[in-house]
Amino acid sequence: MAISGGQKPAQRPARAQWLDSGNSITQQFMAIGGRADIVSLAGGLPAAELYPVEAIARASERALARWGSVALEYGSVEGLPALRAAIAERISASAGRRFGPENVLLTTGAMQGLDLLGKALIDPGDLIVNQFPTYLGALDAWRPRQPRYERLDWSGEGPGFEAGLRQAKFVYAVPNYSNPTGVLVSQARRAALLDKVLEAGTWLVEDDPYLPLQLDGAAGPSILALHGERHPTGAYDGPVIYLGTLSKSLVPGLRVGWVVAEAGMIATLALAKQSTDISSSMFTQAVALELIESGFEAEHIPRIVAAYRERRDALCAAAAQHLSEWFSWEVPPGGMFVWMRAKSAEIDTNALYACALEEKVAFVPSSVFDPDGRLTDAMRVNFTRSSPEVITEGVRRLERAVQRYLASKAGRAA
Ligand SMILES: Cc1ncc(COP(=O)(O)O)c(C=O)c1O
Repeated sequence: MAISGGQKPAQRPARAQWLDSGNSITQQFMAIGGRADIVSLAGGLPAAELYPVEAIARASERALARWGSVALEYGSVEGLPALRAAIAERISASAGRRFGPENVLLTTGAMQGLDLLGKALIDPGDLIVNQFPTYLGALDAWRPRQPRYERLDWSGEGPGFEAGLRQAKFVYAVPNYSNPTGVLVSQARRAALLDKVLEAGTWLVEDDPYLPLQLDGAAGPSILALHGERHPTGAYDGPVIYLGTLSKSLVPGLRVGWVVAEAGMIATLALAKQSTDISSSMFTQAVALELIESGFEAEHIPRIVAAYRERRDALCAAAAQHLSEWFSWEVPPGGMFVWMRAKSAEIDTNALYACALEEKVAFVPSSVFDPDGRLTDAMRVNFTRSSPEVITEGVRRLERAVQRYLASKAGRAA
């Protein structure tokens, strides 16, 4: 049937409702990171000039020679068996007990692990007890599932903490150099949380992408390892669902991550993954296997750690000179970020962000790490992506941004 000339086109169906509360913040920060005129201290990105391009080229050749068409196929949903075994071995070496390939699901980055957890575990209204402030990507991944959140109280003494844990689908924590705060959670607090999780009979999602970036001293055992030490034999049946990745220690572009958990949970997540991407890239998994087997990380990680330490120190020194009137922070012992908190409630980092862009510098305002968006007195500043000189210039621009922001506030008040 022909549509008559004046007739309006039919209204097409609307997108799903959860997207109305979604946002494109991550995309915006990625786009800003690509702009030459802006010093971006926003993204959670490694130093691109330290990416081991040649080592990856050689590993790719070896992977193709070894695996041929297998590396170019759809693979099994759980991942390349030899890489599953290698990750199981790596985790076993650090976790005080044996994990087998049946305890490992290879994922398209740790981000997919978070997404699969949402898909497999969260029904609308379910409670997640989350380390606060929380990694933005986790909040993004779980938003379509419409969970409720309660803050994880590491002291374990908050009102209703234990009742909250008993109702929670899972606890979400980033104990090593958290994104966004850079905090390293003490061993005593990890052990206490594990006790409470075991008592409550819930799951504990331990997200550990920053483990390799230990800038001052060692991180100490993961919560997975603390549990493993208590239960060193038999099939793993603990509550910890552990997420790892090669994104921060090697390159994010391989998109190789993993989930380690009891075998039943791995099967559940594999079921969720099947309808997400059939399998992760066999090719990048085969490349990752070559890199791991050749021991390449042992030479690469010290190189990036030394560079990141210098960059963190450059950021903190510049901030001491240019920002300490308005912000305070603790020097993070690892990871990628310094969490700067405004000394006065007068500073709202959402509004400051607009002034920062005018001064051609970017950071991440704290509100995006709060499920309710109410945390507006802090900012996450990255130190790994840019050289010490660029970081220092970025901090000078931040100083001008704060001055511009306070002047405009004073102007409005007058
Ligand atoms: C806490 C946390 N979890 C997961 C991820 C995602 O990592 P991947 O690149 O492996 O998907 C990130 C990346 O920034 C992160 O900070």
